[in-house]
Amino acid sequence: MMKVTTTINETRSIISEWKKQGLTVGFVPTMGYLHEGHQSLIKKAVQENDRVAVSIFVNPMQFSPNEDLDKYPRDFAADTKLCSESGVDLIFHPEPEEMYCDGFCSFVDMTGLTAELCGKSRPIHFRGVCTVVNKLFNIIQPDRAYFGQKDAQQLSVIRRMVKDLNIPTEIIDCPIIREADGLAKSSRNKYLNPEERKAALILSKTIFLGERLIKDGEKNVSVILDKMKKNIETEPLAKIDYVEAVDFDSVQKIDEIKGKVLFAIAVYIGKTRLIDNFIFEA
Ligand code: PAF
Repeated sequence: MMKVTTTINETRSIISEWKKQGLTVGFVPTMGYLHEGHQSLIKKAVQENDRVAVSIFVNPMQFSPNEDLDKYPRDFAADTKLCSESGVDLIFHPEPEEMYCDGFCSFVDMTGLTAELCGKSRPIHFRGVCTVVNKLFNIIQPDRAYFGQKDAQQLSVIRRMVKDLNIPTEIIDCPIIREADGLAKSSRNKYLNPEERKAALILSKTIFLGERLIKDGEKNVSVILDKMKKNIETEPLAKIDYVEAVDFDSVQKIDEIKGKVLFAIAVYIGKTRLIDNFIFEA
């Protein structure tokens, strides 16, 4: 029977019971409004661990004042159903006051990897992500934690944080899950009206274009990025935030294709900011 907890103490006592029994714990941190992308992470976690915990927490610390914290979509009933049908053992669903006690003033921050891409457009974002993921790891103490490749920079940042801070959790990355027409699954797709939903296809089309250019032998990064940008500009509702190529591990800009390269885009469709990417390993 799946348990739902709202306090850190209650969560800790369940986890410590599991640990006493020698069971492995898989963890999927989320902000809720779960879709098939999250479900794919949960399924993998269920396959690979004795017990699975999912956190549902819209983390205020990773949103700037001008961002969408207040309107971020929530549907706890649907999330509970999806988790229970997918074999989750525990949902941790705290209120912000439970996670950030009075006088809270400790943070986990990172330099370098957070300077480009989303870190540039959302300056406090990764400090909020690193801090909350650290806290969640301390509460859940997972053997493995599952993150989607759609948030590719987040994945590199979390991998680096776990390495730098000696956190004994294995980070597992899972591929992007797309709608039938190509749009990457995202809780923020809910913001799109029908016209914007159609326009949003420019993101996946641009990702597929980039992949095809490389497959067809194009090696010049600036030529690839230029063609991707021009493609986005054909969509009147789209406004580019960034179109970049970076080294996947260091998240530093590159000008030649070497090792594992992340081609990442962020595009506003109307007021909604969407991201997509592909990784090419030379
Ligand atoms: O990817 C997300 O949904 C969030 O950034 C995470 C990892 C749950 C931290 O709040």
